Amino acid sequence: MFSNRVLSGMRPTGALHLGHYHGVLKNWAKLQHEYECLYFVADWHALTTHYQTPEVVEQNVWEMVVDWLAAGVDPAQATLFIQSRVPEHAELHVLLSMVTPLGWLERIPTYKDQQEKLADKDLSTYGFLGYPLLQSADILVYRANLVPVGEDQVPHIEFSREVARRFNHVFGREEGFEQKAEAAIKKLGAKRARLYRQLRTKYLEKGDAAALSEARTLVDDAQNLPMGDRERLFGFIEGGGKVVLTEPQALLTEASKMPGLDGQKMSKSYNNTIGLREDGESIAKKIRTMPTDPARVKRSDPGDPDKCPVWQFHLVYSDEKRKKWVQEGCRSAGIGCLECKQPIIDAVLEEQKPMRERAQRYLDDPTLVRSIIADGCEKARKQAQETLREVRQVMGLNYT
Ligand code: TRP
Ligand code: SF4
Repeated sequence: MFSNRVLSGMRPTGALHLGHYHGVLKNWAKLQHEYECLYFVADWHALTTHYQTPEVVEQNVWEMVVDWLAAGVDPAQATLFIQSRVPEHAELHVLLSMVTPLGWLERIPTYKDQQEKLADKDLSTYGFLGYPLLQSADILVYRANLVPVGEDQVPHIEFSREVARRFNHVFGREEGFEQKAEAAIKKLGAKRARLYRQLRTKYLEKGDAAALSEARTLVDDAQNLPMGDRERLFGFIEGGGKVVLTEPQALLTEASKMPGLDGQKMSKSYNNTIGLREDGESIAKKIRTMPTDPARVKRSDPGDPDKCPVWQFHLVYSDEKRKKWVQEGCRSAGIGCLECKQPIIDAVLEEQKPMRERAQRYLDDPTLVRSIIADGCEKARKQAQETLREVRQVMGLNYT
């Protein structure tokens, strides 16, 4: 249970661009080699803001999965699925809503921020307020403990931790918990039972975090114990009841250094993007017409790379030697701006070549993508159902 499981989702609200590649997808592709990873298309989340244009969501779901695959997310390593195909997310959402104070939701900073930022949309809806709780359900339903997200999403992960803690507190109690935990300890065998008790005391009396994690590993390794006992032992380390839902942690993704064509952050709303699989000619044209240091009116005017968005691209794509060439050439008017931009065009096209190739397979045969997602949904669903079985039980819903 404490082996690491990564979960992350992306809203299908528009075509992906190089900002997504450098900011998110490269990281997803890296994590898939290090952890068990689940990545999903957050189509319900997209509808909370795009309910008036469902066609946008519909168009972007499959395109986005192709973009993921193009970027190197590998269905043999990670589980890829669509949120609405795993209805357990919705079931857990409604069950969590029973114990989620309204004030917690109203206080999340993105709630008011986004309402103001997206003022052209009516976001005074129940669905939009509940968005972070749906996100909690996404995470908790897989008992994922690591959630790669950008800075803006950290409050949502914090909120998910609080929801899990409250849930465990309210529903994790069971009749005779202490006795059951004691009986479970005995099943560990004398030696490990003694170690477990020592570690638990160390944690409870001194707050020793290393002891906590060592005790968890000990329980995690006791694979022959029944699941219920293992959960009691996890919960008992911390003194409380059963741990039904795992508290997740944000795995902060470093902000992308990828600038937009105008030097601002690359974003659809600034109209400064380079698409992940955009046509080569169109990319070349966009870069050739990028603004440069306004001081360089004539070819003979020297410039300052610090005032030029092209330089920021060199920071992403060029080695030291070429950066030196830009610095010296720009400041001495030794190179022209088109000359300076050419290696960027080449680098972007080079970077996209393997993406285009990977994507082609899926464009030629869309059934491949459908079947990757069908497999992923099935796998995800099995795991989600396991959690729900236990959640229903502790909430008194296991009628027989
Ligand atoms: N809210 C996230 C975003 O806007 C997307 C998302 C939905 C998500 N559910 C998630 C991210 C669960 C991580 C985990 O980017
Ligand atoms: Fe920008 Fe390069 Fe032109 Fe200098 S030479 S202004 S860095 S494009």
